Amino acid sequence: FSDFLTDTFHRQHDYLRISLTEKCNLRCIYCMPEEGVPQSPHRELLTTPEIIMLSSIFVSQGVNKIRLTGGEPTVRRDILPLMQQIGALRPYGLRELCLTTNGLALHRKLEGMVEAGLTGVNLSLDTLDPWQFQIMTRRKGFDAVMKSIDTIFELNRHGAGIKLKINAVVMRGINDREIIPFVEMTREKNIEVRFIEYMPFDGNKWNEGKMLSYSEMLDVIRDKYPSLEKVRDHENDTSKTWKITGFVGKIGFITSMTHNFCGTCNRLRITSDGNLKVCLFGNTEVSLRDILRKSNNDEPIEEAAFEAMKKIEMDRRQGLADASKPLGLAPNEQELLDVIG
Ligand code: GTP
Ligand code: 5AD
Ligand code: SF4
Repeated sequence: FSDFLTDTFHRQHDYLRISLTEKCNLRCIYCMPEEGVPQSPHRELLTTPEIIMLSSIFVSQGVNKIRLTGGEPTVRRDILPLMQQIGALRPYGLRELCLTTNGLALHRKLEGMVEAGLTGVNLSLDTLDPWQFQIMTRRKGFDAVMKSIDTIFELNRHGAGIKLKINAVVMRGINDREIIPFVEMTREKNIEVRFIEYMPFDGNKWNEGKMLSYSEMLDVIRDKYPSLEKVRDHENDTSKTWKITGFVGKIGFITSMTHNFCGTCNRLRITSDGNLKVCLFGNTEVSLRDILRKSNNDEPIEEAAFEAMKKIEMDRRQGLADASKPLGLAPNEQELLDVIG
């Protein structure tokens, strides 16, 4: 395994998230204001050849999973050719090619994506009620999202093997009544429904009282399904996995607010304007775009990434502190000890 992807705590950063755009075709109330977010000038964004170049460098260094994110990644017009070229890295060590999407513009592109090598879809859906969808996303489109889900099941019946996770952000008084209907989706379907603790981040007008904690959500589910049981988590999972005895699918919880998972995080991130980040909450950013535009060979990018990785301990410590700020919680002490050694 290449040195530059291994930090001083021997975490191997083999999972790369690439943001393809900051744009989105929804306006979820917990994420964006109605007017959207400011957009970087086009010339500052990574081009498709640059994304492919970076992907192949990272795969050659040991990354085996790439997740395309946004904004909303399907808003990028050339997403299919882009995925085909990333999918072509499989012989060089890429094992998983995943997408985090709101599913709105997905169904028509799915077949091509499977051909390109798509292995997993994390689909953001906070409600199973079309009216509530319009309230939470400030847009219409519930039917299109459901069609994407159905298309995934249909393709899987023909052997596509797409691993489907539904991400639902739970907000008190808004969609918390829907926890049980979401759990019901796992009765017969091989999917994982993951409930996300709402993060009242800076500039978000919703307050922290809207956050439903992991333990509250567990209580709601256990009350209805006493056979709720813990399932073993994979080493670098951000979520805590459970299931109802006899149900086909699983239930997960993303507990960013109450139990952060920085200690086992193996994610690298490239922002849509080409910055490498090791932590969602940290400050260490190195512009791979600038290095790429200045050079003709791979070496300096590897060096730049190595520099970023060296800063990782500081960044993770900062991340732990920042992640727990919104609720004024003290970072979990054991996790902090694990991280700072
Ligand atoms: P898989 O493990 O491959 O299924 O993906 P994932 O859970 O990393 O990705 P996804 O894009 O589905 O993100 C799910 C949720 O995790 C979102 O709410 C993200 O905001 C959150 N998330 C992802 N990475 C981090 C992280 O490093 N820290 C925190 N606090 N949240 C994260
Ligand atoms: N709190 C929790 N989750 C959020 N997401 C976006 N904003 C927030 C927030 N404030 C989630 C989306 C999607 C994932 C990529 O990030 O719902 O599932
Ligand atoms: Fe934000 Fe995702 Fe909703 Fe778009 S779909 S507004 S990126 S949470």
